[in-house]
Parts: sequence; structure tokens; C-alpha cells
Amino acid sequence: MNTRPNLFAPDTRANPYPLYAELRRNAPVFQVDPGGFWAISRYDDVLAVLKNPRLYSSEGFLLFSEKPWLPRNALEDTLLAMDPPRHDQLRSLISRAFGAKALARLEPRIRACAEELASRIPSGRTVDFVEAFSMHLPSFVIGTLLGLPTSTHEHFKRWANDMVNVPGVADDDLVTQARTRQSLEEMDRYLNEAMEERRRHPQDDFVSDLLRVQVDGESLTPSEQMGFLNLLLVAGLETTVHLLNFLVQSLAEHPDVLARVREDRSRVPAFIEEVLRYHAPVQSVLRLTTAEVELHGVRLPPGSPVLALIGSANRDETHFNEPDRFDISRTGTNNMPFGHGAHFCIGAALARMEARIAMETLLDRFQRFEVKTDRFEWNYSLTVRGPWVMPVELHAA
Ligand code: HEM
Repeated sequence: MNTRPNLFAPDTRANPYPLYAELRRNAPVFQVDPGGFWAISRYDDVLAVLKNPRLYSSEGFLLFSEKPWLPRNALEDTLLAMDPPRHDQLRSLISRAFGAKALARLEPRIRACAEELASRIPSGRTVDFVEAFSMHLPSFVIGTLLGLPTSTHEHFKRWANDMVNVPGVADDDLVTQARTRQSLEEMDRYLNEAMEERRRHPQDDFVSDLLRVQVDGESLTPSEQMGFLNLLLVAGLETTVHLLNFLVQSLAEHPDVLARVREDRSRVPAFIEEVLRYHAPVQSVLRLTTAEVELHGVRLPPGSPVLALIGSANRDETHFNEPDRFDISRTGTNNMPFGHGAHFCIGAALARMEARIAMETLLDRFQRFEVKTDRFEWNYSLTVRGPWVMPVELHAA
């Protein structure tokens, strides 16, 4: 390869997999745009990056949303952009909120929300699935989990959307910059008010716990408290929205799979795992080298920005048999869609549960799924990939 590929070129955005295959074959460590990140594309190399936070610092994420036109960096003081030991101390504080007990309590409420949303989708009419279903379910879930009022869930989707798309905003796109700035300010104001309210009237909820917890006898800093809420709002939303989108796209594109899953609902989890592998809602994670690294003959000096391409690792032919074939009979575990090691996704079980409930609900109500792939509008983010407009026709039984 001679020229730097641009991951945001429209054809690549719609289908990045041919480029990834070429990178794996000919240039496993190669600089890409936007941002000049060093893309690492082979399964074993991506895993090695994720397993080694000392050499590959998560501060790489700070580069993602560092923009002169934003009042602050929304990833500052978040788990995602932090390294051990502080990362591990803070992470242990919220693990309980995502444990089996907490999820079991949430399940009936998620199901009720999914059923309500599905019941409002008109059979056989073209609707935007993002607007009709996939944005609302995770907004409801994250709002409920954090104990934030239902009336405000509507705003979450715009805030989350704008935050993950920060790297895709052009330097001269003043309109989008202004909207993104407004979203960040609104989100900050809203979360500050929620914290202030809990300070005055503590409750039995996530925000009150966050204000109460201490590490080595000290409360979290206000910026760390805000970082937690910011991150959960954004990481819990955009990612799951696109998992739900890709589930429906896959049902539409593989009628044989739809028939198999319909015939035996115990195949739903395997179907979800294959969608996570094949479509990887999180395509890559960002890192920064802390020392000189030599990989496949390429020398990266300390401080080099690295993009570990999970989406490519999931299609690596040395790891998966016929990786470009969608096959729900694959065996063996592949947790790469949720990362690996210290930063392994804290919401993985929650996302899988949301996906299972969504599938069960949609399969109960609809017989046939059609997607208008040529009318998808893709988002522009370095990490999360998926359509933010997704016309579909769902046909009731
Ligand atoms: C399909 C859905 C999801 C996917 C594909 C996904 C993927 C990922 C990945 C790949 C990472 C690792 C990042 C890294 O190594 O730097 C991660 C971290 C994280 N995810 Fe998820 N995620 C999903 C849903 C969720 C949900 C529902 C939540 C919470 C409500 C969540 C919260 C987090 C948090 C807080 C982290 C940071 C953990 C840390 O740095 O220790 N995610 N996720």
C-alpha cells in the first residue's frame, strides 16, 4: 500500500472490510486517516495491544475528542481514557451496578419498554428503525440504570450521537461544531443538576452511590464523577443502538438464519454473538504508545497514536474459518467485540440482555424483515460504526 487510506471515505464507511483484509495481508501496521493513527489489523496483534495497557496507554482516547471548538474534553477523567492503577480502583466501584442481580431486576422493565416500542411500529410501512426502536431501548435502559427521569431520555440520543461523532466533524463545519458544543453543554448541565439534586436529597440510586463512594478515604473528584456519568451515557447508548440495528439487518439479509432462529429460540444468543463478530459495533479502540514499539518491521516512537482494529480482528482468516461468511453455528468464544483485559466492556452482559430481549420481542411481533441498505446513512466515528438512519419495513405475522 502506498497512500494512507481514509477510514471515513464513504465507500469504506459503508463497508470497511475489504480495506481491513488488505491491511491484514500487506500492511498490518499502517498509518490511516483521519488523525494519522497507526492501524493494527491482525487478531493476535490487536489482542496483544489490549492485553498490554503499560505499553499501549488508554490516554489514546483523549486524542479522540480533543478539539479546540469544544469547551472541554468529554473523555477526560473517564475509565475509558485512564490507565491502571487509578483505572482499576475506579472501575471496581461501579462493577456491582452491572452484576447479575442488578440486571435481573432490570429485565422486566426492559421487556415492557421493548414491547411498547415494537407495538408502535406499523406493519409493512417504511420506518427509520433507529427512530422507531433502536435508539429508545438503550436510552431507556441507561436512564433507568442511572436513575435519571424518563422524561429526559429523549435527549440522550442526540447527546450520545454528537459525542461519538466528534472525530468526524470537519474543521470548517461550523454548524455541526456548534450543535456538538451545545449537546456537551446541555449534557453537563443536566448531569450536574442530577448530582446537585442527589447531594441535597440522597436516594437509593447510582448517582447517589457515586457521590458517596470513596477510594482510600477520599471521594471521587467532581471531574471523575462527571466522567462516570458522561461515559455510561455515551458508551451504553451508541454501541447498543448499532448492535440492535445490525441484528435486524442480519435477519433481513439472511432469511435462512431468520427461519432457524424462529424455529428454535435457544439459537438467539448464538445469533447475537455472530452479529457482534461480523458487524462489530465498536470497530476500534484508541491507544498511545508509552515506549518505542517495533511490530512487523515498523518502528513506532513513544507517544504514537494507535488504532486497534477490533472490526478487522473479528474477520481475521487466521483466527476464523471463512470469516466473511455469516454463520451462527460457530463454536468457541470470541469476546473481542467487547474488548479484552483491563478495559473489557463493563456493560457486555447488559448489552447482550438488551439484544436478546429486543430479538424475542421483534420475532414475536414480526414475520418478515426488510432493510433498505442503499438508504442507510452511516455515522462517522473512529470507534463506533453503524447507521444513524436505517429505513426498514417490518411485516407483522
Ligand atoms: C453492543 C454493545 C457494546 C459494545 C460492542 C461495547 C464495546 C466495548 C469495548 C470494545 C470496550 C473496551 C474499550 C477499550 O478497550 O478501550 C468497552 C468498554 C466500556 N463499555 Fe462497552 N460496549 C457495549 C455496550 C456497553 C453498555 C450497554 C455499557 C454500559 C451501560 C457499556 C459501558 C462501557 C464502559 C463503562 C467501558 C469502559 C470500561 C473500562 O475502561 O474499564 N458498554 N465497551
